[in-house]
Amino acid sequence: MLSIKQKDDIRKKAKEFPGHRSVSLPALYIAQSGKGYIDRKDIEEIAGILSISYAELYGIASFYNLIHRKPIGKFHIQVCTNISCSLLGAEHLLTRLEKKLGIREGGATADGIFSLESVECLGSCDKAPVMMINEKFHEALTEKKLSRILASLKEKAE
Ligand code: FES
Repeated sequence: MLSIKQKDDIRKKAKEFPGHRSVSLPALYIAQSGKGYIDRKDIEEIAGILSISYAELYGIASFYNLIHRKPIGKFHIQVCTNISCSLLGAEHLLTRLEKKLGIREGGATADGIFSLESVECLGSCDKAPVMMINEKFHEALTEKKLSRILASLKEKAE
């Protein structure tokens, strides 16, 4: 459920854009800023404010990797498993992450620190394999690099 401030922010943002459809993504970001993800009710409320259909807004929300439709960890790891990354071992790296974190793809650790997801192309194919942790790219991954990154995040989480 959106806060009054979030609703006001979405209405204000809508005035900056030429049409209500074009503010869909910023509106979803505003909604997500509260609890870190958006749920069905949030989408319904935004669709109501922008006078667009739920289905249309849901389509936008489900297309973008940075819009989360379920709770994510403090460190949300998105591993690209599209063709370039796949050819260079993305699935193997994903499996390594599952083992190291003790979770399956799509899940989160019990302490809420890490969540893991496989995603489509992150747009950095020339530096495959690639993953994103929150909004930071990690490219040309190797197992060694992956272990270093994970160790550093675990340190930060303590
Ligand atoms: S295929 Fe992985 S970034 Fe494009």
